[in-house]
Amino acid sequence: MVAERDPYILCEDLFKIYKIADLEVVALRGLDLEVNTGEVVAIVGASGSGKTTLLNILAGYDNPSAGKIRVGDKDLLRMSTKDVEVYRREDVGFLWQQTSRNLFPYLTSIENVALPMMLTDISSKERNDRARELLELMGMGHRIDHTPEKLSGGEQQRVAIGVALANHPPLLLADEPTGELDDATAGEILDLFGTVNQELNTTILIVTHDPDIAYKVGRVVMILDGKMSTEIRRKVSFKRVAGEAETGVELEEFTLVDGAGRVQIPRQYLDELKIKDRARVVVEDGKVTLQSGDA
Ligand SMILES: Nc1ncnc2c1ncn2[C@@H]1O[C@H](COP(=O)(O)OP(=O)(O)OP(=O)(O)O)[C@@H](O)[C@H]1O
Ligand SMILES: [Mg+2]
Repeated sequence: MVAERDPYILCEDLFKIYKIADLEVVALRGLDLEVNTGEVVAIVGASGSGKTTLLNILAGYDNPSAGKIRVGDKDLLRMSTKDVEVYRREDVGFLWQQTSRNLFPYLTSIENVALPMMLTDISSKERNDRARELLELMGMGHRIDHTPEKLSGGEQQRVAIGVALANHPPLLLADEPTGELDDATAGEILDLFGTVNQELNTTILIVTHDPDIAYKVGRVVMILDGKMSTEIRRKVSFKRVAGEAETGVELEEFTLVDGAGRVQIPRQYLDELKIKDRARVVVEDGKVTLQSGDA
């Protein structure tokens, strides 16, 4: 049994090493992450920092090389192939950055959303009713019989969110879902994640480059070289006004400390302070100061 206050997602000291011939690429290096049920968390980070790798592992598409990973009461490292299949179908919805990858081009909106439900035992009437309901929630009730080519990029992503939510997954993972959209449309899609979170209580993780994201979600975590480095939270707890970003809210940035007491100092600060291989840690007046230790 998992106690209620346990985080919904728990990643501990997660490593992912890709091997290509003799070359090893460390995509995740000791990543820790906790996400509570019903949270909306954004993940930001430079290209190659491990965002997609993390999402793929959380979605059950890939396995970590080492570490612990639990989602709900499921230990992702101890699932049989069959369990993984069920987990992918029922526990997670996934949204790709490439709008075209999310939808079948020859199916209409409602057929696309109904498709994942074919693998469950609900009747065709229930499938259609639920698909229609989801499309209405996505603001696409007027486009249910359109194929993707007749929809704009933003509309396609709205339908794609419907597809991802078809089997009521408690978790929605979105890998740069707004990467191919203009700023205004991207903003609308990010707001839609807020609606989904509120209406369906879905826990949501979004990889994004949207500079305003901190005003639209409860928490932003920054991934640096395969490890979480800093986190931005709002000073006052998150109260969503439907569809509006709370731009007046004060934000606080924290450096994350992992289980082994490690923190990541951004390269730019290390360069400014000329810290290379070693630093002096001085504790004074309740503060920890880091100074260059090189002669
Ligand atoms: N299948 C793979 N085989 C080998 N290396 C890989 C594979 N997938 C990712 N990598 C490497 O792992 C690292 C992390 O990649 P990942 O795709 O997770 O980054 P990302 O943060 O999603 O980047 P982007 O913002 O460009 O999408 C990179 O160095 C990448 O080259
Ligand atoms: Mg990526």
